[in-house]
Amino acid sequence: MTTLSTLLQFKKSGTKFSCLTCYDAMFARMMAQAKIEVILIGDSLGMVVQGHNSTLPVTVADMAYHTANVARANSEALILADLPFMSYAVLNEAIANSRTLMQAGAHVIKVEGGFELCELISTLAHAGTPTCVHLGLTPQSVNVFGGYKVQGRGTDAAAKLLNDAKAVVEAGAAMLVLECVPSEVAKAVTKAVHVPVIGIGAGADTDGQVLVMHDMLGMTHGRTPRFVHDFLTDPKNEAHSIEGAFALFQSEVRAGNFPKAQHQFGNEA
Ligand code: KIV
Repeated sequence: MTTLSTLLQFKKSGTKFSCLTCYDAMFARMMAQAKIEVILIGDSLGMVVQGHNSTLPVTVADMAYHTANVARANSEALILADLPFMSYAVLNEAIANSRTLMQAGAHVIKVEGGFELCELISTLAHAGTPTCVHLGLTPQSVNVFGGYKVQGRGTDAAAKLLNDAKAVVEAGAAMLVLECVPSEVAKAVTKAVHVPVIGIGAGADTDGQVLVMHDMLGMTHGRTPRFVHDFLTDPKNEAHSIEGAFALFQSEVRAGNFPKAQHQFGNEA
């Protein structure tokens, strides 16, 4: 079974690990077969399962329901669950909502933001709840960013991202997710912190890689983001199966074959 200690060992030994989003029991079982090390019950379920155009409508009850469905079916992976939009803006609500997700089966709670989360991270850590902090393009802040745009470009933005990462780790964050940031910035963050860093659109140098399951099965609605690869139709998926796609993702990440240069972002727009 994958635990936070396993991921720390992976980081130390330079062993790359895989993470996929998952929202139900059938896919969670297939991910166990494929040896996906980390499963994220992402609030992306608001878009890929519920059909909304952002993650904002997702509730704690939605997250708890999907977390329980996944946790029941996969006892091998480390399970991360997102605290949804505005469910952690107030400390005592954040604590109660984290308890709901942990009791539904999560091992780690994921929150989006930076240094402003330090008090929450430290409170949860002292209460036995590890956190994963999502930095860079944080989809819950789409209205602040004015769209889904690459973050951390330019010296000031890169320095802020690095400082935020160091601050939340200092406060007790157990993991980081970096989304849509230049690969050089992701590399610097990964080197600067002792905790595992998972990237999506963040280049090849993070400790782990995550993709939204529907995207990596070629089921993207609208424009396919640059960092996505379709593992279902990849010729190396000789079984042409969903389970084969999950296994191929795991082995390509482990071997350092995914992501490639064409999946990364540079410092220029
Ligand atoms: O909700 C989600 O699926 C995520 C990933 C994109 C990292 O946060």
